[in-house]
Amino acid sequence: MGFEVARRAASYFRPLQDEPTNPPPATPPGPADFRAAMSLLPTGVCVVTSMVGGEPAGATAGAVSSLSLDPVMMLACLDRGSRTLEAVRGSRAFGVNVLAADREDLAHRFSTKEHPTVKWDGVEWCERSGVPWIEGTVARLACELHELHEGGDHVIATGPVRALEVAGGDPLVFWGGRYHPAHFGAR
Ligand SMILES: Cc1cc2nc3c(=O)[nH]c(=O)nc-3n(C[C@H](O)[C@H](O)[C@H](O)COP(=O)(O)O)c2cc1C
Repeated sequence: MGFEVARRAASYFRPLQDEPTNPPPATPPGPADFRAAMSLLPTGVCVVTSMVGGEPAGATAGAVSSLSLDPVMMLACLDRGSRTLEAVRGSRAFGVNVLAADREDLAHRFSTKEHPTVKWDGVEWCERSGVPWIEGTVARLACELHELHEGGDHVIATGPVRALEVAGGDPLVFWGGRYHPAHFGAR
């Protein structure tokens, strides 16, 4: 009996190095795996806009978020190669246009590298607080640029909201690599 207790105790308190070896560290995911995983996170579809030399610039963007309530602030992540990012740097302002469910055409249009005059041809927009506001949105905001933060191959623009307008209605959603008109029931 005494032997059995001692055996169990020895087994319970055996040194850690006797434990089965830990699994080898996971291989860090590459961009394709990362993209596939993040495609499962539904995002609203925005067009981030700015002005450059009196002309509008804009890019379709999903990496957009509210940042702060007090003060009211937004953030938008823009690729280092984005021409819209250059416009934001120059004008120190950016617009966030949250696309309506039926405006997949605008999402396609602003995701291209077409010349800005082609990109904006036929698009209804107005300037508000120094940034382009597009027609065809459920909400649109105008932000002053506060800071640009490094974020890998993207740059994170943050800034206080200077103006906003809410039209309401269902938004356009990007999920699984495709656009989906939401049917949430307009608010
Ligand atoms: C659904 C979707 C979401 C995107 N999200 C972003 C984003 O958050 N940030 C970004 O820089 N580009 C994003 N892009 C890519 C830009 O829209 C694309 O690079 C565009 O051509 C940039 O235009 P510009 O160089 O005129 O600024 C996204 C594209 C799609 C289709």
